Amino acid sequence: MAVQVYREGAAEFHLPQSAHVFYNPRARLGRDLGVLAMRAEAERLERPLEVLELMAGAGLRTKRYLLEAPVQHIVVNDANYTSFEVLRAHVSDDPRVELHNELAQRLLCRFYLEDRRFDWVDLDPFGTPAPYVPYLTGVVRWEGLLYITATDAPVLCGAQRGEALKSYDAVSAYGRECHEVGLRILIGFVQRRLIQANMHGQPLLSFFDGYCWRTLMRVFKGTRGFNVEQMGFIAQMPEGEYRATMAGVPAPVNHEYHPSTTVRWAGPLWLGPLHDHAFLSAMSRAAREDYFDTARKFLSKLNRELDELPIVYSLPVIADRLNRSVPSTREAVRFLRAQGYRASHVHHCGSAIRTDAPLKVILRLWERSP
Ligand SMILES: C[S@@+](CC[C@H](N)C(=O)[O-])C[C@H]1O[C@@H](n2cnc3c(N)ncnc32)[C@H](O)[C@@H]1O
Repeated sequence: MAVQVYREGAAEFHLPQSAHVFYNPRARLGRDLGVLAMRAEAERLERPLEVLELMAGAGLRTKRYLLEAPVQHIVVNDANYTSFEVLRAHVSDDPRVELHNELAQRLLCRFYLEDRRFDWVDLDPFGTPAPYVPYLTGVVRWEGLLYITATDAPVLCGAQRGEALKSYDAVSAYGRECHEVGLRILIGFVQRRLIQANMHGQPLLSFFDGYCWRTLMRVFKGTRGFNVEQMGFIAQMPEGEYRATMAGVPAPVNHEYHPSTTVRWAGPLWLGPLHDHAFLSAMSRAAREDYFDTARKFLSKLNRELDELPIVYSLPVIADRLNRSVPSTREAVRFLRAQGYRASHVHHCGSAIRTDAPLKVILRLWERSP
């Protein structure tokens, strides 16, 4: 079989050309950030990490973790036999690797019974991570990290609202701001599953990179440190204004949909911060090699956004409604700050803003200029 050679970070991969095993360059940022977060975490703990990688595919991420991050021991699994064979060829020589070829759910149950816990648990499925999340609570160490990916865009972006209810027990939103809502639905879902297991999480790094959603969460014992007001809903009022509403607030009943009266709700979702900025800075400091250039720039973008503000507006959507031109994001942010509100760019959309300003103030942006 023909073999293609790929290079990413410090690693070189030899992949057979097959329908089952392929190189996905769009997932590179997630792997880069994974390496940097592991470096930051190992520095914090002052020791290398014990890692569980549940869905390793052909082992690209595994190989990068082994070559570039401080790994003491890594359990590497993939259920697909074709992927597993390539995975084995890539990483089995390393004495730190323990290989498994089975369903992640079974492995997680066994590790729970054996009381095996890990500093870092990596879950990178095709589609939704939801079916596996409840099992993670039994294998992550206190203050350990969960690195979770979702790629089910139609579900998290409101095109398949019924599927969102099934997977995440949440209503997703359709529209240009859907990626922010999707990210917060994912975090909110993980958080609720942790709470049900008498744990809670703190997001250290959460993003949508144009391809998938990822969140890195630190897991704590107990729920005392969890602020219930950080779980809630985002309501879109009939005139288009978004409002963050804490959990427990009753949703008005809409007997029939009418665009000028219906309040549209998304959630339950996470209303708290997306990142821990000190952790992001530690990751940036760990990005020493030139090949982390893109990751370093992305981290700096995350570090500059006001991620504790869950309300995001797409400027082109408002401009379209007004039949006016789209102001620059920088101009909009500067204007809102000058009015005494908080505002910033949004890492996943160059033409959107985060703000705590009400819509009527945002609309004044267009009143100022012709
Ligand atoms: C997105 S790929 C993983 C890519 C890899 N993490 C990387 O960064 O290169 C998802 C993998 O999950 C595996 N998979 C899907 N469902 C699984 C399950 N229930 N248990 C174990 N592996 C599973 C698939 O075989 C596939 O290789």
